[in-house]
Amino acid sequence: MTQKILVTGGTGFIGSHTTVELIKDGYEVVIVDDLSNSKIEVLDGIQEITGVKPQFYQFNICDERKLMDCLKAEQIDAIIHFAASKAVGESVSNPLLYYRNNLVSLMNLLDAMRQFGVGHMVFSSSCTVYGQPDQLPVTEDTPFQKAESPYGHTKQIGEDILRHVATAYPELNSIALRYFNPVGAHESALIGELPIGVPNNLIPYITQTAAGLRDELSIFGDDYDTPDGTAVRDYIHVVDLAKAHAVALDRLLKGANKEGYEFFNLGTGKGYSVLDVIKTFERVNKVKVNYKIVERRDGDIEKIYANTDLANNELGWKAELGLEDMLKSVWKWQKHMNGKSY
Ligand code: WQD
Repeated sequence: MTQKILVTGGTGFIGSHTTVELIKDGYEVVIVDDLSNSKIEVLDGIQEITGVKPQFYQFNICDERKLMDCLKAEQIDAIIHFAASKAVGESVSNPLLYYRNNLVSLMNLLDAMRQFGVGHMVFSSSCTVYGQPDQLPVTEDTPFQKAESPYGHTKQIGEDILRHVATAYPELNSIALRYFNPVGAHESALIGELPIGVPNNLIPYITQTAAGLRDELSIFGDDYDTPDGTAVRDYIHVVDLAKAHAVALDRLLKGANKEGYEFFNLGTGKGYSVLDVIKTFERVNKVKVNYKIVERRDGDIEKIYANTDLANNELGWKAELGLEDMLKSVWKWQKHMNGKSY
């Protein structure tokens, strides 16, 4: 029988790409999203790619009653939980929004899972949980630093909740996936990242500058202790990330997980500087990006990249797409979006 997966945040950036992979793998997907940071049109993109329009519920999962009604109506086999607020700066100015949106929602879901006998969850975590680590690359054993922002703290607490819940209720299994920097877009350019307003993140800022929507990109600092002085990150293609969710889900559904709560780094293991990214983008797309160097951004870390051995060996997953693929796909997506009204 077809297994039914609830994808919270399924119209978002990573959620939409994961939905596509799940449908390709033969799952039925039910999406819950409050559309606070995504658009309903994303469902059309998913349908165009897969031939299937997932069932869609619009509500915030902090609304316990709506969540319970949804789980009562659908016979869910597992949950992939993306729905959360994710802007680091906003979390500093509006911490309660972040603690509520990211943690009340998680607890509601876990309660609902217990009530309706859903035993499996894949949870979106982040490399933010590590802060600026003392040693690179970062393994899953690297200790967490004190969180720099409420956003990062919600991911640390979220992981703790899952760990404790798995101990208390052995029937509830979960896998947290610690994403490094997700970028890229589906090769069809029918879905991708949809930043609302001025982008905070590097890649959408680059594509919007190249497209002439922004005058100039500001590079935040060129005096870091890195080869060219700009900060280093581990960028990972969202399609590779989406596939990792399908693998983690399969592991849980098969009961192949070794612990009730497991966690994995998802990156490529390669660190690229801001200037590497800009130059590669210009070269592979044959476009120019205007930029200037400005002061460091508050709260930014100098460099981080993943050791992905655990995901490679335990999950049998490896990132297949490189920086050039990522940057070609985002330019194709940007050009596609230029002709759209949303
Ligand atoms: C990348 C690099 C910037 C914009 C954040 C969150 C993390 C995750 C992903 C999840 C940095 C530099 C950026 C610009 C720049 N969030 N930059 N000019 O900060 O590594 O990670 O997003 O949901 O949790 O912390 O990503 O894309 O903002 O920055 O020079 O206009 O690009 O300083 O070195 P970051 P980013």
